[in-house]
Amino acid sequence: MTTSTPATTTSTPVSLLGLGPMGHALATAFLDAGNPLTVWNRTPGRADGLSRRGAVVAGGVEEAVRGGRVIVACLRDYAAVRAVLDPPPDDWTGRVLVNLGSGEPTQARELARWADGHGIRYLDGAILSPTPAIGTPSAAVLYSGEAAAYETVREVVAALGGVGGYVGADPGRAVAHEVALLDLFATSVNGLAHAFALARAEGIAPGELAPYAAGIGGLLTEMAPRWAEQLAAGRFPGERSTVASAATALTHLVGTAAAHGLDVGALASARRAADRLVAAGHGDDGLARLATVQHAEQAEQGERAEG
Ligand SMILES: NC(=O)c1ccc[n+]([C@@H]2O[C@H](COP(=O)([O-])OP(=O)(O)OC[C@H]3O[C@@H](n4cnc5c(N)ncnc54)[C@H](OP(=O)(O)O)[C@@H]3O)[C@@H](O)[C@H]2O)c1
Repeated sequence: MTTSTPATTTSTPVSLLGLGPMGHALATAFLDAGNPLTVWNRTPGRADGLSRRGAVVAGGVEEAVRGGRVIVACLRDYAAVRAVLDPPPDDWTGRVLVNLGSGEPTQARELARWADGHGIRYLDGAILSPTPAIGTPSAAVLYSGEAAAYETVREVVAALGGVGGYVGADPGRAVAHEVALLDLFATSVNGLAHAFALARAEGIAPGELAPYAAGIGGLLTEMAPRWAEQLAAGRFPGERSTVASAATALTHLVGTAAAHGLDVGALASARRAADRLVAAGHGDDGLARLATVQHAEQAEQGERAEG
């Protein structure tokens, strides 16, 4: 991962397909960096503020692609990219397509193959930051695919954010980072919602719980690099807390939540993972060991053994 200051100015013409909230943020960053910008959106009328700042509003996809050397797609998903670009406009000479929409790693690889089949130089990307961060040093955007294509667009996409960069030749690798982080985000958001619901069921007001909840969120900042080190080394010291202790705590949690009629699906899954490790003799290990037993197959085997 690299960190740099974005908003270097370049004069490379950029075309942007997609003017949802993120497309608008990208367009603003490209304009701020001085790039001549052409924009296109399926539904017309979404480019008003951008055209006032000098962006050319293309009447169609072909015109949009013609207007840029770097063609950035920021659409809902990969199916939308195919809906917009398949069949593709003819002339991609000197152009690179950069797809910054979300999706699955296999879809990124498939789109890269499709682009290759049409002679289109393709780079896949993943935006890891929310719209207000785009164009600031803290915004994180990752890219993967053909290394030479990244070198071609590197200075232009530096306008979007200062964290991240090229993560490898596999076109699915940028989006793979995104889905893994979405996993963390989605389960954390679900955990926060569940915690408020459980607290309310026990007569604790949201405002009473909030200061303590904020403290728990902060723990992840310390845990992520420490777990990474332990997973890389394959050693899981249990001096801070152990899997066995976590399994017991999860039993209390599942019992309390279930008694209030709350959905305990995610918690039951966490408890199964801890229980399997205890059964396998890893109860004295630290919590990072939990990252080694998350496969559905293992869960099914565990359930069969329990049943
Ligand atoms: N917003 C964020 O904070 C954020 C953060 C990280 C990543 N992202 C990713 O960035 C991408 C864009 O997100 P967004 O926030 O701008 O909103 P979005 O609602 O995910 O995407 C809106 C854009 O997709 C277009 N679109 C959807 N289906 C289409 C189709 N079948 N054919 C053509 N165009 C289609 C929309 O066109 P119309 O206007 O015509 O409907 C619009 O331009 C998504 O993949 C999202 O996951 C967003």
